[in-house]
Amino acid sequence: MVKCITTIEQLHAELNQAYLDHKTIGLVPTMGALHQGHASLIQASSKENDITVVSVFVNPTQFGPNEDFDKYPRTLEADLKLAANNNATIVFAPDIDTLYPSKDPSYLEVLGNVSEVLCAKSRPIHFRGVCTIVAKLFNVVRPTRAYFGQKDAQQVLIIKRMVKDFFIPVELRVMPIIREQDGLALSSRNKYLTNEQRTQALVLSQSLKHVANRFAQGERNVKTLVSEARKIIEQSPIAKIDYVEILALDELEAIDTIENKALMALAVYFGSTRLIDNIILE
Ligand code: PAF
Repeated sequence: MVKCITTIEQLHAELNQAYLDHKTIGLVPTMGALHQGHASLIQASSKENDITVVSVFVNPTQFGPNEDFDKYPRTLEADLKLAANNNATIVFAPDIDTLYPSKDPSYLEVLGNVSEVLCAKSRPIHFRGVCTIVAKLFNVVRPTRAYFGQKDAQQVLIIKRMVKDFFIPVELRVMPIIREQDGLALSSRNKYLTNEQRTQALVLSQSLKHVANRFAQGERNVKTLVSEARKIIEQSPIAKIDYVEILALDELEAIDTIENKALMALAVYFGSTRLIDNIILE
């Protein structure tokens, strides 16, 4: 049975003995609307830790003024079931005032190229909000390990930098992207897609697969690979590209040729739904 907890006091009452006994605690931070991608994180955590805390919190500070904070799916009952089925110990689902106790919130921000490229261009306050809430959750839960999905590749790189720069004592575990059988990467936002948009969105994984194949055959020119990927995406008449880029890992610098590890990442709108996906080329 998973316990649903909404306050920090209750959470600490649950975890105090675990802290004293040096039990390992895995944290899976989520915004709810849990799917099999989250399930894979919860499973990994429950295998590797004595206790798994899944946080469910739609974090207002990572949404821009015209984004989908209000309509973001909130499905706590179903989330509790999925968490329980994957052996989570606690679902921590606080309200906004609990995690933002001051009228004027304080923020934590990672600076530099990694926070300026890709999604940051169209979502300028997003990663500041993500770092702020993830740092709060780390302080509140005090996990041994924290689990994130590779689907949010830029988020992972920025959180890694935050953990390094602020000496946060947590081990980050990054789990592979989970896809539908036809290739679509799982995302809570897939719920917004109409059937037509859902079908058209397959161009994303197709373009990534194409680039992975071309890379495996030896193509290293970034312009060539990006332009071939764009052509595949543009086969969908309703796809509106936000970005398709190949950048060097880990700082996401621009490159002309792939020499070491690189990230190919894309963000594309289908209607008003913005989907992201990526692969690592190495
Ligand atoms: O990846 C997400 O779902 C969110 O960005 C996170 C890490 C839970 C912070 O709100």
